[in-house]
Amino acid sequence: MQQEHIKRTIEDIRNDFPLLIKEPTAYLDNAATAHKPASVLKAEEEFYVNHNANPMRGFYPLSIEATDIYENARKEVMAFIGAASEREIVFTRNATESLNLVAYSYGLSNIKAGDEIVVAISEHHSNMLPWQMVARVTGAELKYLECSTDGSYTDEEIEKVIGEKTKLVAIAQVSNVLGRCNPLKKIIQRVHVNGGTVVVDASQSIPHMQVDVKDMDADFLVFSGHKLLGPMGIGVLYGKEELLEAMPPFLTGGEMIDSVRRDGAVYAGLPHKFEAGTVNAAGAAGLAEAIRYINGIGYDYIKERDVLLTRRAIAGLKDIPHVNIIGSDKADEHNGIITFTIDDVHPHDISEILASEGVDIRAGHHCAQPLHDHLKVRSTARASLMFYNTEEEVDRFLRSVAGVRSKLGWTE
Ligand code: ALA
Repeated sequence: MQQEHIKRTIEDIRNDFPLLIKEPTAYLDNAATAHKPASVLKAEEEFYVNHNANPMRGFYPLSIEATDIYENARKEVMAFIGAASEREIVFTRNATESLNLVAYSYGLSNIKAGDEIVVAISEHHSNMLPWQMVARVTGAELKYLECSTDGSYTDEEIEKVIGEKTKLVAIAQVSNVLGRCNPLKKIIQRVHVNGGTVVVDASQSIPHMQVDVKDMDADFLVFSGHKLLGPMGIGVLYGKEELLEAMPPFLTGGEMIDSVRRDGAVYAGLPHKFEAGTVNAAGAAGLAEAIRYINGIGYDYIKERDVLLTRRAIAGLKDIPHVNIIGSDKADEHNGIITFTIDDVHPHDISEILASEGVDIRAGHHCAQPLHDHLKVRSTARASLMFYNTEEEVDRFLRSVAGVRSKLGWTE
C-alpha cells in the first residue's frame, strides 16, 4: 500500500544514495540494476550485525529474531503488491528463478501436448527460455505474440494468437527494451475466459508504478529486488494461493518439509514448500527497507520524474541526426527506458564513447534477442532512468550521443 509521502528535493533524495554522492558518472543503466539507498544497505548490515542466525531453525532468541525479520519482510511485500496472504509470497534469488520455479513446477505438471503456450516476443530471455523448455518437454505448442514496430500489442494480434487452446501466457508488464506497458488486463481477461494462466514479469514495471496483483488478476507475478533499490540475490514470486497449493516443490531439501522418512517426505505448507535451503534473510530485510523507501518517495513523485526525464531524453534524441529510437515515438510510452541506435555505429562503440564521457548505459541485445530479430536490429543502446537521475545527467547523455558519429570520423 502506498503511504503518505513528503515531497523532497532531488538533491536531498540523491543524498540518500552513497554511490550517487561518490560517483560522478551519470548512471543511466537502472533497468539492469538500481542503486541502493543507505537505509537498504543498513538494513542488510543490521541483520548480520545484530540478528544473524539461521531463520526458522532455532528456538533461541537470535534465530527467532531472524525468523521475524524474514517473515515481516514477506508481509511488507504482500502489502506492497496487494496479495491476499503471506502464503502467496515466495522469496527466490531473483525474477529468473521465480520464472523457472513456475515453469518447472506449474508448467511441467499442468501443460500437456495439444496445449498452447503464448510468449510475448518482447520478453526478456528469462521469461522465454523456461517456456521453450516446457514446450519441448511436454509437447505443447509455443506461439509468440508479435508486437508492432512501436512495441504495441494490437487487439487483433491478441485475439488471433490467444484462444481456446492457450494454457499459459508469459508476458512482462513493461518491456526491458521498449519500456512500453503491455495491455495486461485485456490479455489476462482473454486468457481467463478459456481457463488459462498468466505469468507476469513485473521486474521493469515495479520500480516505476504501483503493482496490484488483485486488480491485475495475475495468476503469477515475479520481480527482482535489485531493480527496486533492494539488494541483489533476493527475488519474489507471487502466485494465487490455490495454484501454489497444488504445485509440487521446485527445489527440495532442508526447511521445505514437515517430515522426512527413508521412502519419502511430507512437504511444508506455503510458502515454505518453495524455499528450500537457508534463505536470504538479510536480502529480504534489505528488500523490505527498499519497499519502505519507495513508499516514502511515492509512485506519484516517481511518475513525475519519469515523465520529466523521459520527455527530455526523447525530445533531445529526436533532434540528433542519425539517431533512431526503438519502439514508440511518444515519450510517455517509455517509462524511463529509451533504446536507440545510431546509423553506422555499433552500440558497443556508443556505450564505450559515452562511458569515456561519464555516462553509463547498456549496449547489446539486453537479453531480448528474439525481439531484436523481430524488429530487424542486431543490437541497440539503452539508457534507463530512475527518479534520482537529473536533467543535467540527461543533457550530458544527449551531448555525448550527439558527438558519437564525429568521434568515429563521420562528417555529417
Ligand atoms: N534484465 C536486466 C536488463 O534488462 C539485466 O538490463
